[in-house]
Amino acid sequence: MEFNYTEEHLMIQKAARDFAQDVLKPGVIERDELQKFPKEEIKKLGELGFLGMMVDPKYGGGGMDAISYVLAMEEISKVDASVSVVMSVNNSLVCWGLETFGTEEQKQKYLVPLAKGEIIGAFCLSEPEAGSDATSQKTSAIDKGDHYLVNGTKNWITNGSSASVYLVIAQTHAEKGHKGINALILEKGMPGFVVGKKENKLGIRGSDTHSLMFTDVKVPKENRIGEDGFGFKFAMKTLSGGRIGIASQALGIASGAYELALAYSKERKAFGKPISQHQAIQFKLADMATQIDAARLLCLKAAWLKDQHLDYTQAGAMAKVFASRVAMETATEAVQVHGGYGYVKEYHVERLMRDAKITQIYEGTTEIQKIVISRGILA
Ligand code: CAA
Repeated sequence: MEFNYTEEHLMIQKAARDFAQDVLKPGVIERDELQKFPKEEIKKLGELGFLGMMVDPKYGGGGMDAISYVLAMEEISKVDASVSVVMSVNNSLVCWGLETFGTEEQKQKYLVPLAKGEIIGAFCLSEPEAGSDATSQKTSAIDKGDHYLVNGTKNWITNGSSASVYLVIAQTHAEKGHKGINALILEKGMPGFVVGKKENKLGIRGSDTHSLMFTDVKVPKENRIGEDGFGFKFAMKTLSGGRIGIASQALGIASGAYELALAYSKERKAFGKPISQHQAIQFKLADMATQIDAARLLCLKAAWLKDQHLDYTQAGAMAKVFASRVAMETATEAVQVHGGYGYVKEYHVERLMRDAKITQIYEGTTEIQKIVISRGILA
């Protein structure tokens, strides 16, 4: 068993860390406060190759492994989870889905600009009444011969207004249940496709989360991904990898909060010495460091399985359950270590605490991950 990173891993980790500290940190409080989408920052992230990290270079990607992706996601998420969610959706859901299941034409037309970071994508599964219960899709894609007619509403879509390409999951043959669902590629600007209201969120406030409305949107047949009825499995397989991305985001939020708490505890004095010299704080730091290490190992194990082309569904779900809990607990403790300062924006930890919560909800709640894990155990 090898626990060392390669030279390349360390280089990617450093590039992501430098980018996060130099480019993301200066404006992160303002973007959160104003709910400002990090447009310029995402453009630069794309230029550095972080939006199509694992895509084959022949399609404009970085050709990196999933371990590199975990390392980069952790570094970006330490500073700005609103940026890392864009990165995660584009890499794990949109690019991976298109590269793995798309036709050559779809790859040339959509994957190449997505992987190069020239445009970004969105993954549209959730609906007002179908979040966890993903088979209950109400959005319909009626087969009209050479095209589908799409009608319905999607909710909580990350990159909702800033994406150019949308992978939309919709029901074609309701009587067939999950076997009647299709995944279609929609483009912004298609007649009948309207971007709805932006959500005013607790955390990841810089990311743009929207509802989307489709009224008789005509989608050419060549925009279907995979065979007729493959849409549900497409969504499940894609989300299995997405969960490694969100687990790594949670890991980054946790380690970002921990690093801030550690630094603060060495500076802040109480009862005549730095608070890091008090056992009450030392125990908190020890717990944080231990939990973060365990979360990182779970993320890396899931990524390693993916790189080895082994089944990573259960490992990804385990990483997400554990890392998101560690993110929530660590960020909350980091606020506690900061005392009153932790409760105000300038010290960053209150934002990390708010950002942490979403990692227990999106791309499958903690409860959904436990369903996935227990099915694996009991199979
Ligand atoms: N990989 C491959 N196939 C899978 C799979 C996986 N991970 N999970 C299920 N399948 C297959 C099953 O094998 C089954 O196929 P067969 O009928 O051929 O045997 C089929 O899919 C149906 O599976 P289930 O019977 O297990 O389906 P279910 O209705 O019981 O649901 C579930 C399973 C795991 C609960 C699923 O509905 C689920 O994951 N729900 C959560 C969805 C989710 O993550 N939503 C978040 C939205 S996306 C998002 O948040 C993105 C963003 O913007 C950040």
